Amino acid sequence: MSNDILSHTEGAILTLTFNRAQKKNSITVDMYQQLADALTAASTDATIRVVVFQGHEAIFSAGNDLGDFMNVPPAGGDSPVFQFLRAIASFPKPIIAAVCGPAVGIGTTLLLHCDLVIAGDNAAFSMPFVNLGLCPEAASSLLVPQMMGYHRAAEALLLGEPFMAEAALEVGLVNRVVPPSEATRVAMQWAQKLAAKPISSLIETKRLLKKGDAQVVAERMKEEGVSFGRMLREPAAKEAFTAFMERRLPDFSNV
Ligand code: COA
Repeated sequence: MSNDILSHTEGAILTLTFNRAQKKNSITVDMYQQLADALTAASTDATIRVVVFQGHEAIFSAGNDLGDFMNVPPAGGDSPVFQFLRAIASFPKPIIAAVCGPAVGIGTTLLLHCDLVIAGDNAAFSMPFVNLGLCPEAASSLLVPQMMGYHRAAEALLLGEPFMAEAALEVGLVNRVVPPSEATRVAMQWAQKLAAKPISSLIETKRLLKKGDAQVVAERMKEEGVSFGRMLREPAAKEAFTAFMERRLPDFSNV
């Protein structure tokens, strides 16, 4: 197993760290599988009460590995990425994310399934699916407009341009903005506070907070997944990925 995901347990807190800095913490098929397995195990492990996601001070995650998108695109609902999305969306205990630097694609949409998000003031969130010839995933087409209203969601998902930590705070995607060097400390402080509370109350409160959403979210994820999987194999996405590898702007004039 690679070290691209670091898994560390201290007390009742499981910390999962994106650790592929040389590729901007972009997420490979193996990394999704490790994350899905870690969350599945933690969901029923009575010794774990809280999960913390983090990257590094300069980068949270550049999203899906674009080489993997080209070479091993997800095929079907059992693909590691969909296992991960289902695991995070249905995780019964609190999840905290500490986000510094760019959070691209699933680096942003996974936050929709976290309960508390601390952002470094250098955090830059983006969901550039359209710029890659793709469509939203992780139920973001449902959850982003619910969170920020239709027009701001359309700006984020149609233009796909980054927005910074303060804007994310304003629309409710993050709870607090702190200097990047403080993000992990604040996340751990909150995790410790949560871990000291009765787990049955945490689980029941989270279930009630999410009540009514779970089925709709699962259905939207599935619908998005079908479109996403088809679009990955179409000319617009191929042009976008090739352009990224060749370090040039994509040419969508024929797609
Ligand atoms: N998949 C695979 N490799 C990636 C990657 C990704 N999503 N994002 C970055 N990398 C790699 C680059 O290819 C480069 O590799 P190299 O050093 O072997 O050439 C390395 O990470 C550094 O990336 P670089 O683009 O030079 O860093 P930067 O600091 O200038 O920019 C980002 C950082 C995150 C803004 C930029 O890399 C980016 O936009 N990445 C693509 C994000 C994306 O579209 N993700 C998919 C969302 S669905």
